[in-house]
Parts: sequence; structure tokens; C-alpha cells
Amino acid sequence: MDQSWKRDCRIRREYAGHLRRRLGGAMLHDVLFLLVLSADAVRRSDSSPVVVPAADSCEYNSNHRKSILADLLKDYDKTMVPSNNSVQVGVELTVQDISSISEITGSFIADVWFSQVWEDPRLEYRNISCKSNLSLDSYVSERLWTPNVCFVNSKSTQVHRSPASNILLIIYPNGTVWLNYRVQVSAPCIFELSRFPIDAQECTLVFESYSYNIAEVRLNWQDWAPVTMPPSEDFRLPDFQFYDVTWNKSVNEYTAGMWDQLKVTFKFKRLYGYYVLQMYLPTYLSVFISWIAFWIDTRALPARITLGVSSLMALTFQFGNIVKNLPRVSFVKAIDLWFFVCVAFIFFSLVELAVVGFVDKITEIKRRSRRIRFQKALAGNSGKKKHSCSNGVRCSLRYSMGTNNNDDDDLYNIAGEQTGGTNGIGISMGGGRAFGPGGWQNNASREVSADMGARVDSFAAKTFPAMFAAFNVFYWWYYLSRERH
Ligand SMILES: *[C@@H]1O[C@H](CO)[C@@H](O)[C@H](O)[C@H]1NC(C)=O
Ligand SMILES: *[C@@H]1O[C@H](CO)[C@@H](O)[C@H](O)[C@H]1NC(C)=O
Ligand SMILES: *[C@@H]1O[C@H](CO)[C@@H](O)[C@H](O)[C@H]1NC(C)=O
Ligand SMILES: *[C@@H]1O[C@H](CO)[C@@H](O)[C@H](O)[C@H]1NC(C)=O
Repeated sequence: MDQSWKRDCRIRREYAGHLRRRLGGAMLHDVLFLLVLSADAVRRSDSSPVVVPAADSCEYNSNHRKSILADLLKDYDKTMVPSNNSVQVGVELTVQDISSISEITGSFIADVWFSQVWEDPRLEYRNISCKSNLSLDSYVSERLWTPNVCFVNSKSTQVHRSPASNILLIIYPNGTVWLNYRVQVSAPCIFELSRFPIDAQECTLVFESYSYNIAEVRLNWQDWAPVTMPPSEDFRLPDFQFYDVTWNKSVNEYTAGMWDQLKVTFKFKRLYGYYVLQMYLPTYLSVFISWIAFWIDTRALPARITLGVSSLMALTFQFGNIVKNLPRVSFVKAIDLWFFVCVAFIFFSLVELAVVGFVDKITEIKRRSRRIRFQKALAGNSGKKKHSCSNGVRCSLRYSMGTNNNDDDDLYNIAGEQTGGTNGIGISMGGGRAFGPGGWQNNASREVSADMGARVDSFAAKTFPAMFAAFNVFYWWYYLSRERH
């Protein structure tokens, strides 16, 4: 191609732009001046045998493209670095979507548009064409030198093929090259689970030029909007909420030299509503149910044990379901702490049960031994008149609901009456145990010991909820207050 028409083309375009600006874009004037210019151009290029192309040859034209490309790539050597100093490469990242974050694999998957921008003076075409840009595809990009910027921390990266590779290459007239990929990248997240499930996670992408150290390639974030995120409501992550993104640059030293490194960090907060519904609320119920035992008669041991044990099992089952989907870390997570404390509460409610049972047993043993002593005394009291209800003393036989030893109680009541003598009104105490208080009324300490189980119960019924409430306040304050930072 002859250079002259190209120059003319450029000059004409500049003139036209200038005139259009001056004349406010009036169409008539445009036409008029273009005519004048054409005449002028013809006059100036009359030495050349080439017919001057019309002004619209600057427009999109496949032949024109072809000739520019052929010109540019004629002597192009893709192994040559475009600059004798290091090439300044701008990197830009636009996130299309982040589709999953997984604790098990410790990674996240993102679809991103990723651009590298650099200058290659060999691809300058402003003197041979007036096109404002040249957009090309992967076929041409393979024939050019590229800075080879990679996701160096990715687990897998794949350029989308839908159906052809999603690669865009734009060459500007001043030699600026813009290379853009749409890729799906899977990269690691640093899972810090000690606050799970009220935690926040960070996921990173690291860029380096894989092949060129800082002597050849310097990486920089683009000045304008280096990282662009989609609006947060467009994220479709079920259990995380994106809240921040940061980026920085550093120089890393490797055995092979110094490399520029660009790093972008995405920050996510876990949406713990699922865990509140699936873990916290059911465990509240389990713990509350275990307290019901304090309100049940101390003698109803099977019922009380059932409550404690079944709530313990329900808790273990729920917890197992939650931790099944987590990596096996060897430190205590927030949810573990919750689980341990809830188990401890249920466990101690069972212990309380044992204490009540034990106290009752001791009381019972004491009572029996007293009774036996009394019987012996009776027996020793010569085969005196057998007690009978008809001898003027009213018989008081009141049995508790779950009474287990009617004969003994019977005997006990009778004994009480006989020693006490006067009134034989049985008073039901301590969860329905029958006493013949006639004889014991004065002996307060013994009565207290017999009533011990009920006292332990009422004490526990106050202490357990109070301690659990205190633990809740502490737990939620500790985790929720630090969540905000
Ligand atoms: C690099 O330096 C060599 C020799 O000094 C020179 O011939 C070449 O044009 C330079 N290349 C660039 C891109 O400046
Ligand atoms: C393009 O033209 C300008 C003057 O119009 C000149 O200074 C420059 O060196 C030329 N560039 C190339 C690559 O020919
Ligand atoms: C590329 O050039 C076309 C016309 O040739 C223009 O419409 C478009 O805006 C240009 N794009 C850029 C990014 O400069
Ligand atoms: C080259 O052109 C592009 C697009 O018009 C522009 O963004 C860039 O700043 C230019 N570079 C130089 C060195 O002028």
C-alpha cells in the first residue's frame, strides 16, 4: 500500500474533526468542506499514481483490517519482549459471579473477566490507519507476545469456551494491547473456623507473570477500578454474604529472581441463620427439656432419666449432622463450645438426678434402720398388745403416689403413732412421702434430711436456668460483638 493515501486519510480526518467542531456539526458545511478537502488532497497527491480513496475508507472494512494485521504481523517476533526496559502491565479484574465457597475443599469458584494491558510499540498503527481500535480473537493473541499473567494460586483455571474461547484482544493505534479472558477459576480460601458458624472467611486470587520477572515485566493494578464486583444482591451464595474486597501489590523473591505479585482478597461473612435454626434452637429445646426433670416427683426416676438421656441423644444427633459437613479441625469451634456446654448442662442435670436419688436412698436407709431399731425395741417390749387400729388411735395411712414400700410405710406410720401417741395425722411431704409426724415433729433435722431431694431439686430448678442464661449472655456477646469488626 502506498503511504500517501493513508497520510491523506489521517489529515482529512483531522481537518474534518476540526471543522466540525468549529461549525457546530452543520451537515451542509461538512459536505462543503469535505469537497474542498478532497479537491485539495487530489491536488496535493497528483504526483502519485494511486487513486485517493474516499473519506469513508477509515470506516470498518475487512480488507483494511486484513492489511493492517498483515502489516503488523509481518516482521513480528513473539519471543521478543516489546520494550528494552521492563514492560508495564496493567491488570484488571471484574468478577462476574462467585458460585461456591466450600469448607471441605477449602476453595471458592469464581467466574471472572481478567484483563492485561500493556504497550507494544511494534503494534502501533496510527500512521498506517485511522481506525480507532482493532478487536481480535484468540487466534491472533497466540501470535503476539503476551506478558503471561497467571493465577498462580489457583487450583484449576479454565477459559470459558462458549463454544469458542472467550478471549478478546484489542490493539489501539498507539500500540496499547488489551487482552481479556473470561475464566472460571477455583482458588483457595483460608478457612478460619474457630468462630464457626459466626465467622468470616477470606478468599484470595494471586497474579504473577509466570514467565517474566521484574526485569521484563512489571505488574500493576489498573488505575481506574482495578477490581469490580457485581452488586452484592447478584451473588447467589446460599450461606455467605460478600462484604469487602481489597487488593495490593508486593514484590516476591524466588530462586529464579524477583516477581511482581498482585493479590486480591474477597471477604465473606457467613449467614448463620441456618445454624440458628438447625443447631441453636433445637439445643435450647433439649436443654430446657432436661430441666423438666427438676419439676417431676423425685420418685419418678425412670421418667426423669428418660428426659435427660433423650435430650442428650437429640443434642448429639443434631450436632453430628452439623459437623458432618465441616473439615476435621483439631481446635474448638464456637459451635463445639456451644455443644460441650449444652451437653454439660444436660449431664449435670443427670448428675443432679443421681444426687437426688442418692439423698433419697440415704434417707430411706436411715429410716429403715431406725424402723428396724424400733421394731426390735417393740419386740423387746415383750409380746405386748399388737397395734390395732381399733384401740382408739386413729390410723393414718397415706401413701404417696409412687410409693414403693407400702408395708414399710404402714409400719412406719404405725410406729410414729405409737411413739408419738396422740395425733396420727399423716402429712404428705417431700413429693408425697407419708409420714407419721406425730413422733418426728420435734426432730427438725431429720425432717430436713428426708426432704433433701426436693430441696436439691428446687435449688437446681433455679440455678440451672440462671447459669445457662449467664452462659448465653457471655457466648453471644463474645461472638456477636467480635463479628462486627
Ligand atoms: C532495544 O535496544 C536495541 C539496541 O539498543 C534497539 O535496536 C531496539 O530497537 C530497542 N527496542 C525497543 C523496543 O526499544
Ligand atoms: C508516526 O508519525 C509521527 C508523525 O506523524 C512520527 O513522529 C512517528 O514516528 C510515526 N510513527 C511510526 C511508527 O511510524
Ligand atoms: C473501537 O472502534 C469503534 C469504531 O471503529 C468505536 O465505535 C468503538 O467505540 C471503539 N472502542 C474502543 C474501546 O475504543
Ligand atoms: C493509547 O490509547 C489508549 C486508548 O485510546 C489509551 O487508553 C492509552 O492511554 C494510550 N496510551 C498512550 C501511551 O498514549
